[in-house]
Amino acid sequence: NVNREISTGEVEVSVRSAAVLSRSEPLPFMLDGKAEVAEEIRLRYRYLDLRRNEMQANLELRHKVALAIRNHLSAAGFFEIETPFLTRSTPEGARDFLVPSRVHHGRFYALPQSPQLFKQILMISGCDKYFQIVRCFRDEDLRADRQLEFTQIDLEMSYPQQERVFEVVEGFVAAAWKAAGVTIQTPFPRMTYDEAMRQYGSDKPDLRRPPMTDVSDVFTNEMHAALKTDPQLPVVAIRVPNVKDFSRKNREELRETFKWWSGYALLIDDLKRLEKSWTGTSQAILSKSQASEGDLVFVVAGPDLNELEKKRIEMKTPDEFPRPRPLPLSERRLQVFRAAGSIMTWVTPTERNKTGDVKSPDSYRFLWVTDFPMFEWDEEEKRWNAAHHPFTSPHERDMEKVLDQKDLATVRANAYDIVLNGMELGSGSIRIHRQDVQRQIFRALGMSEEEAKQRFGFFLEALEYGTPPHGGIALGLDRIVMLLAGGDSLREVIPFPKTAKAVDMMVDAPTPVNEAQLKELGIGVKK
Ligand code: AMO
Repeated sequence: NVNREISTGEVEVSVRSAAVLSRSEPLPFMLDGKAEVAEEIRLRYRYLDLRRNEMQANLELRHKVALAIRNHLSAAGFFEIETPFLTRSTPEGARDFLVPSRVHHGRFYALPQSPQLFKQILMISGCDKYFQIVRCFRDEDLRADRQLEFTQIDLEMSYPQQERVFEVVEGFVAAAWKAAGVTIQTPFPRMTYDEAMRQYGSDKPDLRRPPMTDVSDVFTNEMHAALKTDPQLPVVAIRVPNVKDFSRKNREELRETFKWWSGYALLIDDLKRLEKSWTGTSQAILSKSQASEGDLVFVVAGPDLNELEKKRIEMKTPDEFPRPRPLPLSERRLQVFRAAGSIMTWVTPTERNKTGDVKSPDSYRFLWVTDFPMFEWDEEEKRWNAAHHPFTSPHERDMEKVLDQKDLATVRANAYDIVLNGMELGSGSIRIHRQDVQRQIFRALGMSEEEAKQRFGFFLEALEYGTPPHGGIALGLDRIVMLLAGGDSLREVIPFPKTAKAVDMMVDAPTPVNEAQLKELGIGVKK
């Protein structure tokens, strides 16, 4: 009865005596191989799901990765210091989870969206190298790469230049990958935000695919008139290397999504035809995009992200858009790759983030994106938001603009992201350590003196006591383990995750609570 398909298939047990230590109900799903049941069932019976080899391997991987990072940072002189969970709001762009106080009715703690202010305060406290593998809580809409509670590898240093932060991160990232059996090359390449937007139309470029090449200058006004496109639109060439298969169906579908946007988006998927009307154009496009034998080159005109925003505002409500929705160039690029099939296995944004062979260093294309804008205009609220968070320091050369509150759109920040295969792994910045600058940033964000004092008074005060220049970063541990496991959902690497509807299926949370408990907390629930 040898069965080589299963790990115990060649083991034979000769029984002398047997006793049943624990009995089992019939299993709701098979535990060998892939669990081919709805995810809700797996989550409801998570204790069974976790018995599967795949899940055991993910738990082991998570443990090894976290341990390697801890050991690496500890050896580099960082102390792991705990910060409170019952605290007050730290703005990271999501909603807070609130915890009512029993002792002070009508008052609430907030669970931390990140330890941001505490870690900065630790720098003021003379703890020069802090880290923490820490749970964070954000009440935001869940996606495959977002959970309500998730784990950050959070760190902060006194007196670092941006390069020093990169070096530390590259060190522990390499250690984490090594723990997973993969040797990666450091340092990682760097690219400014402006460059990333220009070449990839995205602030999280996926370096596994070639960038877009601007070919606007090949298109004369006369050509635009003939093609019926707006001459203001950027025109880019998208090179798809080694296309084996581009089906008629895919091509038709791709063309279809452009038809809706005639005048505002253009697809040229046949350079020969272009060449017939305008000699020399095809050669110019091919050489600009560095195409070689076997590559397919598409020309796409369309709005970039900012123009799309302008268009939205012009057209007032998003509902007035015809379907399908308009896409910025960055998404057009992905769409073209998707339609070209062969090299593209992505279908959904999460699948896009899937790594190929998890053991091959080539599957991981890391990148630092630097010099982000400091502010983003919030059209609904008619005010500026901090693009990263309000504690990020502006570039020294833009400091005057901040102090004078002018030209805020052009202010660049000492903020950086670490990106892997088109996914944001982590974000950080060099911080503001001057109280006057911090006040001006709050002001630029539309906060009155009074409000700033009420929300961040303790922090503004702490800044007054000889704050060292400092900076840091936080990386998502769940995302790292997910990519190393070759998965496409955080739920595969979090032992007890929530569903997309923010529910814990196993314990059935959230739940109503009884009247007595509410009364004790001084809370009434509106029906
Ligand atoms: P940020 O908000 O960019 O920065 O978060 C850092 C990293 O945390 C991970 N992450 C998440 N992972 C899973 N589910 C979520 N809901 C979720 N939200 C964030 C991501 C992200 O890149 N205090 C700053 C860091 C700093 O400036 O030092 C911060 O929290 O991988």
